[in-house]
Amino acid sequence: GLDIARLRSETGLITLDPGYGNTGACTSAITFIDGEKGILRYRGYPIEQLAKSSSFIEVAWLLIFGKLPNQAELDVFRERLTRNAPLHESFKHHFEGFLVDSPPMAILSAMVNTIACFPSQNECDGSDEECFAEDAARLISKVRTIAAYSYRRAMGLPFNYPDPKLSYVANFLHMMFSMPYDQHVADPEVVDALNLILLLHADHEQNCSTSTVRTVGSSQANLYASCAAAVGALWGPLHGGANVAVLEMLEKIHKGGISAADALKLAKDHTSGFRLMGFGHRVYKNFDPRAKILKQSADKVLAQLGVKDPLLDVARQLEEMALKDSYFVERKLYPNVDFYSGIIMRAIGIPTNMFTVLFAIGRMPGWIAQWREQNEDPKRRIARPRQIYTGPNVTDYVPIEQRK
Ligand code: ACO
Repeated sequence: GLDIARLRSETGLITLDPGYGNTGACTSAITFIDGEKGILRYRGYPIEQLAKSSSFIEVAWLLIFGKLPNQAELDVFRERLTRNAPLHESFKHHFEGFLVDSPPMAILSAMVNTIACFPSQNECDGSDEECFAEDAARLISKVRTIAAYSYRRAMGLPFNYPDPKLSYVANFLHMMFSMPYDQHVADPEVVDALNLILLLHADHEQNCSTSTVRTVGSSQANLYASCAAAVGALWGPLHGGANVAVLEMLEKIHKGGISAADALKLAKDHTSGFRLMGFGHRVYKNFDPRAKILKQSADKVLAQLGVKDPLLDVARQLEEMALKDSYFVERKLYPNVDFYSGIIMRAIGIPTNMFTVLFAIGRMPGWIAQWREQNEDPKRRIARPRQIYTGPNVTDYVPIEQRK
C-alpha cells in the first residue's frame, strides 16, 4: 500500500478539502448513510424498523454497545438512568449564576462540563467497562434534567425533581411542565412523538458536532469535555440550530403578512437571499428517511392535540405547495427532519429556543458511542489537520517607532 505519511514528508503534499467533504477521518461501525437512496441504519438496523418498534433508550444502548440489549441489559441501563437523573444539589447555584434569559445551549454546554466536576453519587466498581457504562448513563440522564432546569430557570419556576416512576421522555416533560402540586401527565401521543424525535436524532455519522467529539476526544479529553464541545458545535444555525431557523422563518412570513405563494417565489429567486428553511439536505438528495417518518408523526400529533396555530398553517401551506413546485421537485428539495421536528415541538409547547437543546438530548448517545469507538481504536491518532499557508514570506521584525 501507499505510505501516505512518507509521501507527505518527502513531497510536502497536502490535500486541501474545505469542510472535509471528501475526507474520511475515521472508520466507524455505528451508522450507515446512503444519501442518494435515502438510507439510514444504526448498527445495520434500518431506521424505519427502529422507529416502528424500538425506543430512544433501547437505541441509545444499541448505538453505544453495538447490539440490541437483552431484557436484563436493558433493565440495568434503565436503573442506571433512573439513579443518575437527579442533579447534585449544588448544581442549583450554577443555574442561579446565569441571567434568566441566557441561551439554553450556553447553559447546557457549561453544565455538561460541570457534571465531571462533581463526584459521582453512584461510584462505578473501578473497571473501565463499568465506569464507562456509568458515565454514559449519567450523561444521557442528566442532560435531560439540565435541559428542563434551564427552562424552569428562564420561566422563574421552581425546579421539579425527576420522578423515578416515569419513563425517560415522560420524566423530561414532567420536569419541564409540572406545576407545584400538579404533576404534568403527558399525552401518550406526545410522549411517543418526542421519543421518536430523540430516536431519529440519535446518530448521523461524522456531522459537525460528532466530528467535534472525535477531535476533542482524540487529545484524550474526557467524555464530558468532548460532549460539552459538541453542544457548542450543534448550536450553530447550519447544524442543530436549523430547527430554530424554521420557526423563525414561519414567524417572519406570518408576521409580515406574506402569503405562502409569495414566500415560495422569494425562495426561488436567487437574488432575494431567502431560502426555505427546513427544505433540502447536504447528504440526502432524494428524501430524508427521518423526515418521512416524522411527517406521519406530525400529522398524528397535530390531529390528536387539535392544535390551532397560524404558524403551523403556514408550514402546511409551504409543504404542500413546494412538493408540487417544479423548482423544488427538480432540485430534489424536500422538507427535512428539522422541518417536521420543529412543527411537532411547537405543537407540544416546547419553546423555540429549546429546540436545539432537544436535538442535543437526542444526539447524546451518538456522541458517546463515537467517543468510545475512537478510544477503542488501536490506530487512533490525535486530530491534527494541516493547512496550505497563504501568509507573507519571511519578514523582518520592525521596531514600533519605525512602523507606519
Ligand atoms: N430554498 C430554496 N432554494 C434552495 C434551498 C432552499 N431551502 N436549498 C437549496 N436550494 C437551491 C439552491 O439555490 C441551488 O439552486 P441552483 O441549482 O439554481 O443554484 C440548488 O437548490 C442546490 O442547492 P445547494 O446549496 O447546492 O445544496 P447544498 O447541498 O449545498 O445545501 C442545504 C443543502 C444547506 C441544506 C440547503 O438545502 C439549505 O440551505 N437548506 C435550508 C436550510 C436547512 O434547512 N438546513 C438544515 C438541513 S438539515 C441539517 O443539516 C441538520
